[in-house]
Amino acid sequence: MKIKDLYIDYFISKGHKQIPSAPVVPENDPSVLFNTAGMQPLVPYLMGKSHPYGTRLCDYQKCIRTNDLEEVGDKTHHTFFEMLGNWSLGDYFKKESIEFSFEFLTKVLNIPVEKLAVTVFEGDKDIPRDEVSANIWRELGIKDERISYLGADDNFWIAGESGPCGGDTEIFYWRSEDPVPEKHDPEDERWVEIWNNVFMEFNKDKDGNITELPKKNVDTGMGLERITAVLEGVDDNYKTSIWTNIIAEIEKASNKKYEGNEVSMRIIADHIRTAVFISADPAGIRPSNTDQGYILRRLIRRAIRHAKKLEIDVNSDWEANIANAIMDLYEKYYVEIKENRNVVLEVLKGEKVKFNRTLEKGLREFEKITNGYQFDCLDKDLAFKLFDTYGFPIELTVELASERNLDVDVNGFYEKYKEHQEKSRAGASEKFKGGLASTGEIETKYHTATHLLNAALKVVVDENVHQKGSNITAERMRFDFSCDHKLTDEEKTKAENLVNEWIKMDLPVTSKEMSKEEAVNSGAECMFLDRYPDVVTVYYIGDVSKELCGGPHVSSTGCLGTFKIKKEEASSQGVRRIKAVLE
Ligand code: SER
Repeated sequence: MKIKDLYIDYFISKGHKQIPSAPVVPENDPSVLFNTAGMQPLVPYLMGKSHPYGTRLCDYQKCIRTNDLEEVGDKTHHTFFEMLGNWSLGDYFKKESIEFSFEFLTKVLNIPVEKLAVTVFEGDKDIPRDEVSANIWRELGIKDERISYLGADDNFWIAGESGPCGGDTEIFYWRSEDPVPEKHDPEDERWVEIWNNVFMEFNKDKDGNITELPKKNVDTGMGLERITAVLEGVDDNYKTSIWTNIIAEIEKASNKKYEGNEVSMRIIADHIRTAVFISADPAGIRPSNTDQGYILRRLIRRAIRHAKKLEIDVNSDWEANIANAIMDLYEKYYVEIKENRNVVLEVLKGEKVKFNRTLEKGLREFEKITNGYQFDCLDKDLAFKLFDTYGFPIELTVELASERNLDVDVNGFYEKYKEHQEKSRAGASEKFKGGLASTGEIETKYHTATHLLNAALKVVVDENVHQKGSNITAERMRFDFSCDHKLTDEEKTKAENLVNEWIKMDLPVTSKEMSKEEAVNSGAECMFLDRYPDVVTVYYIGDVSKELCGGPHVSSTGCLGTFKIKKEEASSQGVRRIKAVLE
């Protein structure tokens, strides 16, 4: 882990300010699920906005890339990695950038120059061949044979389709026992890329038009896992010091050696590490069937599948031991890990218990489906049913199917999955239904919890308490209600206890359609009567709550966890506001 400190110290000594790693879930960019590169959180500044820390920045950034989830298991792929980066925002350009990289590699990390090669952009119709960078490399002592000019596929960098971009120069290291060849051959995989310096001069818009940025920037990125492997002289990233304690825990849990069990051990190590970082993130992601929550679920469930393959007793605390080894390693660098250790352990365990519950049923269903199955490809509806009803991540279905020599219509599955995601997002736009921002699993729970809180306040505070508004996110619920005084501590505790009692009773949640008039006459609680159609749905929770509502709700209260009031405050005249969580 020392490389991280050496890197930051070096760039601070060159006038850079260290910026904190941004959360893994981008704060202002709903177009991507996770941060995939160090520069991503800096896009507004690369586009010209002035950065509060100045024009020279450095950091280590948590990145998550799940596109090649299936590749994890080999020596070099990870779903989570850390990227070391330094930036110039309209400050220095090619010369200093290349000099800094060269000095850091050869003087601080002591990499012999003989083991390095570089590539530069050969240019295209819009941008000239990058002789400037090539000359700087020459002056530093890189021989001509070790400088390759490559086209836009290799030496032009852009994150996705549009945004700030530019030509780049990449640095390669000879990772092999074989003698270093004089000439750099870009096709020879023994040359591994270790650092990428992008000279961001342009912006590409969604229609493909390229314009110059207001300032010329530098964006560099170096993957920590890879540079660590290079420096420690191993060709398997999982054999570096980053993974030593983590793999040791897996060896202990399985009573097996890494050698001979590499694939499953790497999958477990990688997936649990990523799950740790997702669960500890301030975005509060929890396992679910959509978006980031689905990725988290797949990672945990895939790790469990491989734990079973290694004959680990999955009911033991194996996952907690591995997660603890991971958190020991990272808590010094990431405060959210330090603060959320228990949350992480609960998320992992909760998902394990849930998966174990549906796994057996799902496996039986899978047997039923495939016994005497007429075709050699499992169709998308069946794959989706296994996902939707039994929580089978698609790769689990694929793995099980392949054991029976069956293919799975994975593309078809993803089409259905997309429809399912869009449906849950469409639900999200129907805001008036009690201020429901989106309708994931957690939000649904909160929705039911607001009914319980509404009912509890009537018992504890006053039967004339009525809901005035609510707002739900995956992290918390907010509930506004009519009340003429600040709640006493006693009232808060009583309301909290009552809700928890009802949760424990696992009361059934049922619904019935009726005319609005009938609903009102039956005494059902309703917030904005005039906003509802003539035929309404009344939701009942046992016999404690009766409320007009558009749903969705959980089917019984037992799954809500523990209800906790975090804050009670004034909202407006005669209206109080409670913020509460389910833990
Ligand atoms: N953005 C470039 C990369 O991700 C350099 O940081 O490789």
